[in-house]
Amino acid sequence: MSTSNSILIGPFSQILTFDGPPLKGPISDENLPILMNGQWILIQNGHISKIGSYNYLKKEPGITDVEIIHLTRNYVCLPGLIDCHTHICFDGSREKDYAMRNAGKNYQEIAKSGGGIWDTVTQTRKANQQSLEQGVIKRANRHLAEGITTLEVKSGYGLSTEEELKMLRAIQNANKNHPADLIGTCLAAHILPKDFDGSDSKYLDHLIDNLLPEIKKQNLTNRIDIFIEEGAFSKEASKIYLRKAQALGFSVTTHADQFNIGGSEVAVECGAISADHLEASTEVEINLLAKSNVIPVALPGASIGLGCSFAPARKLLDAGASLAIASDWNPGSAPMGDLLMQAAVLGTHEKLSNAEVLSGITYRAAASLGLHDRGKITTGYLADLTIFACDNFNEILYHQGKLKPTMVLKKGILINIK
Ligand code: NIG
Ligand code: FE
Repeated sequence: MSTSNSILIGPFSQILTFDGPPLKGPISDENLPILMNGQWILIQNGHISKIGSYNYLKKEPGITDVEIIHLTRNYVCLPGLIDCHTHICFDGSREKDYAMRNAGKNYQEIAKSGGGIWDTVTQTRKANQQSLEQGVIKRANRHLAEGITTLEVKSGYGLSTEEELKMLRAIQNANKNHPADLIGTCLAAHILPKDFDGSDSKYLDHLIDNLLPEIKKQNLTNRIDIFIEEGAFSKEASKIYLRKAQALGFSVTTHADQFNIGGSEVAVECGAISADHLEASTEVEINLLAKSNVIPVALPGASIGLGCSFAPARKLLDAGASLAIASDWNPGSAPMGDLLMQAAVLGTHEKLSNAEVLSGITYRAAASLGLHDRGKITTGYLADLTIFACDNFNEILYHQGKLKPTMVLKKGILINIK
């Protein structure tokens, strides 16, 4: 690992800055800002300071102690990738679900026969905080080696005050002990826990009265998620929960329109920062989202895992919506956790430009997390860089996730990914 405060890295055959394209709507590859012809990046104190030729940057004042990383073949530089939706804090495995699914059982039927989310809740409750933290670190290590320098991590397999706090503390500690930024989100409203005596609204009120104030007090996260779905939480109960959570100062996000519509309407009405899944969204939901500031998040890993349709990414973009893409990495519906591969496959199925796919895992994903200091390569932004050994950016997705980055920098520190 590097110790110098200043790093000069280059020359790159291409630097994709993502500085310019809009937050919403389609983007053609021709409109992607690309710096060509051997530009270098100057990093100071973990941030991008300047981009330019070697001779120009060498003359910058205050870079006497600069570490030079001189690249001797063609490299394409992207902002550090961002996975804005994961559930990588869990214990146990759900291989039984895979077999049941392939035998024709649906998500709800699997849940009823002892699999599904509740199975992971049972297994996660048995794990102590430290082993959960280790599990998060292990998976974050894999993500970081694959170029993901910021990832969101949800709770949601505890489903009681104690157990949710345990998960959120495990995520927070993993963040402290890992170079990537791990953004925790409370998903205590994942399903109605089997051991809770009462209705879904009573459970959500219980979270508002007991869990959320404790999360605030312990400063564990400022993000709340809810699974709005038949068999999880109704539209009406979700709206009340999200509004109360917002009144407590939480930013809200949603699992919406995965199997049935309704969730995205709640997301728009409540001003959620994102609406994730959307496999079941129709023209009505697409237009609603496009007119709003809610960022739609496609989760192709869940579509691949469940064998169902992809979110209507093309239609969302054409209607004028934004589009982030995330892995949904979880032990049930999306155990693969390969963001780049999943994003490339979504691109193929949904006829997305390379620019749209890569925007979905960089600056648009950053926006869906409310982060405005990353996802682009520009002065003042974090020096999170994912570097691929290839001549031009079109090669990255063409390899469908098999071309992994050769170098990853997090806040200007070169990560050992071998
Ligand atoms: O995003 N849809 C709800 N929650 C997760 C699945 C979690 C699980 O199956 O363990 C999802 O797909
Ligand atoms: Fe999810």
